[in-house]
Amino acid sequence: MIPSSQPPAADTGFEPGASLTAMADELEATHHAYLRAVLPEIHNRAVTLADTHAARHPELAPLASLVQELRAELEPHLTKEEQVLFPFARLLDGADAPPRFHCGSIRNPIGAMLVEHDRTHELLARMRAATAGFTAHADAPAGVHHLYRDLAELEADTLAHIHKENRGLFPAAMAAERALLERSAAAAGPDQGGDPACWAYREA
Ligand SMILES: [Fe+2]
Ligand SMILES: [Fe+2]
Repeated sequence: MIPSSQPPAADTGFEPGASLTAMADELEATHHAYLRAVLPEIHNRAVTLADTHAARHPELAPLASLVQELRAELEPHLTKEEQVLFPFARLLDGADAPPRFHCGSIRNPIGAMLVEHDRTHELLARMRAATAGFTAHADAPAGVHHLYRDLAELEADTLAHIHKENRGLFPAAMAAERALLERSAAAAGPDQGGDPACWAYREA
């Protein structure tokens, strides 16, 4: 089995030496499960609060729209990672040779996920700005205070989630793939490296 890649940097968010499979499993069992549980509920609550308190708290309507945008961004993102990127990472974990995968290099789905992470960062920043750092008005109903606390928790969990992918799983998966390709090129001779087109994406 290929070790989980280059030694993870100190701040990957994972146990040192965690395998690609362990990282993918942990991400699914914690951050992905959390988002799938809370996103629909928080979105529905934000819409209900905006409808109920529109007159005294007009700021709730644009906030509900932002929560809707975040949900629309994140739910398909989770599915793409679970159905494409994480299975690819698990294949690399147990491989003795570069696995064949319909996406080509793992850099392709990683490049797409990095773009989506940037969009999520932007949405979270807009949400923080729209709520004065998740601080509800003193006269806001208890439900609004509760919503803001839950949004602050959602932000913190999602930032940790993205950090673990950008700094833990993604670099480790690219390093594992690179090691397999180099080993395969060495076995085949000096002129038979991987397809250069696979390397078009930036590092995480
Ligand atoms: Fe994820
Ligand atoms: Fe992600």
